[in-house]
Amino acid sequence: MTDSNSVRDDLLARISKSQQPHEVLRAPELRAFASELKNLPSEQRADAGRALNDLKQSLQAAIAKREAELLDQTVTPIDVTAPFDVNTTSPSLLPAEKGTIHPVSQEIAKMSDILQRMGFMVFESREIDDQYHMFESLNFPAGHPARDDFDTFMTVEADKSSEPFVAPAHTSTMQNRIIKQLKPQLDAGQPIAATSIDRVFRNEDLDPRHEHTFYQYEGIYIDKDVHAGMLVATLKTFLESYYEKSLDVRVNPFYFPFTEPSFEFSLSCPFCESEGCVVCSQTGWIELLGCGMIHPNVLEMAGIDPRVYTGFAWGGGVDRLVMMKRGIEDVRHFQSAKLDFLRQF
Ligand code: DAH
Repeated sequence: MTDSNSVRDDLLARISKSQQPHEVLRAPELRAFASELKNLPSEQRADAGRALNDLKQSLQAAIAKREAELLDQTVTPIDVTAPFDVNTTSPSLLPAEKGTIHPVSQEIAKMSDILQRMGFMVFESREIDDQYHMFESLNFPAGHPARDDFDTFMTVEADKSSEPFVAPAHTSTMQNRIIKQLKPQLDAGQPIAATSIDRVFRNEDLDPRHEHTFYQYEGIYIDKDVHAGMLVATLKTFLESYYEKSLDVRVNPFYFPFTEPSFEFSLSCPFCESEGCVVCSQTGWIELLGCGMIHPNVLEMAGIDPRVYTGFAWGGGVDRLVMMKRGIEDVRHFQSAKLDFLRQF
């Protein structure tokens, strides 16, 4: 026969510790007690039934008390937005430093902004191209010795002319496409004015001034009666706006297959007022970029009649401008992903 007192003590103790005290009503001891009742002689059954009821009532009272107690308990709040578990004693914090915009990207944004305000449309270049755009369309026929000056990376796969694809070694690879795309502007009496500032690749021996991956800014301007004076004035205006000061400029004859005449363009050193400093190697001048009047063959290959239209183009290195402006001594820092370098900007 069940001893209702010992069952009560046992179940009350369980209720006082349980997180779900109601469950205790399903205890097997209670069920056993109820089934015993049926088999008891009738004179004992009434007392035993009363004892079972008393037991259940006291359990229910204890359950109600325990449930109230559980509701009152202060629960440790959880901050679901915290980057760690607030309930652990020693949270390990995730690094919270902010990233910075790469110095080359900062300058590209500035340069694009100036050129856009001067009326140049901005085009992205590409990271893989064919030899037609990289060379032929720029008046370097197959076997032209100047192709060798460009240390071009090539793929194993070949294009439909059985020539390997290239990783463009200059942004001039965009000239033919841009001119073709904007030709309707010329037909409508508007000049073509476009720029492409993007990444280029060369198989260089690496040193503080040479990197396999770097950036160039290319400009193209085509209209009727365009002459070299307009080229010089455009570049001078752009560079004075970029360096925020008046500058002298100088052009020397040079050679590129895609311009005739071609020039090497220099500007008076913006850092020493031409007195001579480390940036300009004490000369007062900085040789900055290549430029010239677009070769008639290049215009023709893009569908423009060179007897009607003339144009100028230029292409220069962005990394060099950033290095001079920010006093960076080694171009390889740019691609190094060194955070202590990048966080300075
Ligand atoms: N593509 C030349 C280079 O990488 C630079 C250049 C020179 C671009 C003259 C031009 C240009 O558009 O007209 O060396």
